[in-house]
Amino acid sequence: MAFEDPRGVPLTAASAESVRAYEEALDRILAFAGDPVGALDRLTERDPACVQAHLAKAAIHAWALHPSFVGRAREALDLARKAGPLLDHERRQAAAVEAWLDGRYADAGREFDALLAAQPRHLTALFFAHQADFFAGRTGALEARPRRTLEALTADRPGRSFVLGMWAFGLEENGRFAEAEEAGREAVAAAPHDVWAIHAVGHVLEETGRSAEGIRWYGERERDWAENSYFAVHNAWHLALYHLDREETGAVLAVYDRFLTPGRRSILLNLCDGAALLWRLHLAGLAVGDRWESLAEAFAAKYRPGCHVFDDVHAMFAFVGAGETAKATRLMADLAAIAEGVDDRALQVRRAGLPVCRAIAAFGRSDWRSAVDLLSGLGADGLLMTGSRAQRDILELTLIEAAIRAGDRSLARDLLERRLQRKPESRRIRRDLRRLAA
Ligand SMILES: [Fe+2]
Repeated sequence: MAFEDPRGVPLTAASAESVRAYEEALDRILAFAGDPVGALDRLTERDPACVQAHLAKAAIHAWALHPSFVGRAREALDLARKAGPLLDHERRQAAAVEAWLDGRYADAGREFDALLAAQPRHLTALFFAHQADFFAGRTGALEARPRRTLEALTADRPGRSFVLGMWAFGLEENGRFAEAEEAGREAVAAAPHDVWAIHAVGHVLEETGRSAEGIRWYGERERDWAENSYFAVHNAWHLALYHLDREETGAVLAVYDRFLTPGRRSILLNLCDGAALLWRLHLAGLAVGDRWESLAEAFAAKYRPGCHVFDDVHAMFAFVGAGETAKATRLMADLAAIAEGVDDRALQVRRAGLPVCRAIAAFGRSDWRSAVDLLSGLGADGLLMTGSRAQRDILELTLIEAAIRAGDRSLARDLLERRLQRKPESRRIRRDLRRLAA
């Protein structure tokens, strides 16, 4: 039977109760809270005809970006199709997930474009399209998609503030910091547990170098982002970045030990945050004890090359940081083979993943000049590493440190002075400028 969700989007299900249960699961998806897969499992058990629940499960597993979830994503797609006949938007969601699993990121984006043009208030599709845009490096779409949905969604419709949070992040990634901060703060005021909106404001504070405010922003609402959320590790990573900028090393390590230490439940993206933080400490010449070793071990257990370029690069940081030269060399050989492919995943590896990994390896063997050349040569392809501005900033930070150590003072000074304009309060930048002047 066809029902409608609270925003007027048609849903196939056996009962109105399933529509209500799906809305609850969707709230968890949008808030990165609790266990949305568990909620969807219970729903499909009671109502196998609820196509949207199968599709959401498929999407969650597909955007987990890990080979061990691919089978579960395809299984959920099969169940959705068997529960059919599918509505047009359901068919397009299935096609988008399938394209993503095949590494055809542009095709996935096109399916979402068509779906959202017909159903702009489809919040599940918007959420996963937003994630897809993020992991495919489509910066413009991060802003445009949520904006179009906001235009179609009146203020009284449930879920609107989550869209505002997505829009805030999109604005931030497109450098529109003041508008991003305003939208993000409005979203957090409407839904304090919206960790994506908390994160969007966190990004603005990072990009504009307002680290004291950032520490306050996260400190004041720790219960909202740090508890019952599988996005907590990434928000903690942002908190650690502010402390790093203020050269508060003890606080950085305390955040790492509390939130980022690899554990049984760590997902790959958590390990990436850990590597990104330890590498920044490494660049600053700070010792991190045996943290690299346990992180590299966790990567070796969970990571497989070529699933997503962002993971490839961060696995490389971990292997080089831990001095695991053999693993680092093997990874580069695997990536060189993957780069020969023809899909969008291969393109990301060819143009960004491989040169970045080679630069990390060069940095690891103190070949500062090669690291400088490889990172300077990236140009706009650096975007294909994907991730946010703050995550890709690790490329510039590595370039600056390599330039200083290579004796390329004019390049280092140029980069640092431009950074200081963006982040005038930064202690870290001023220290590096003093090193150059010495
Ligand atoms: Fe972030």
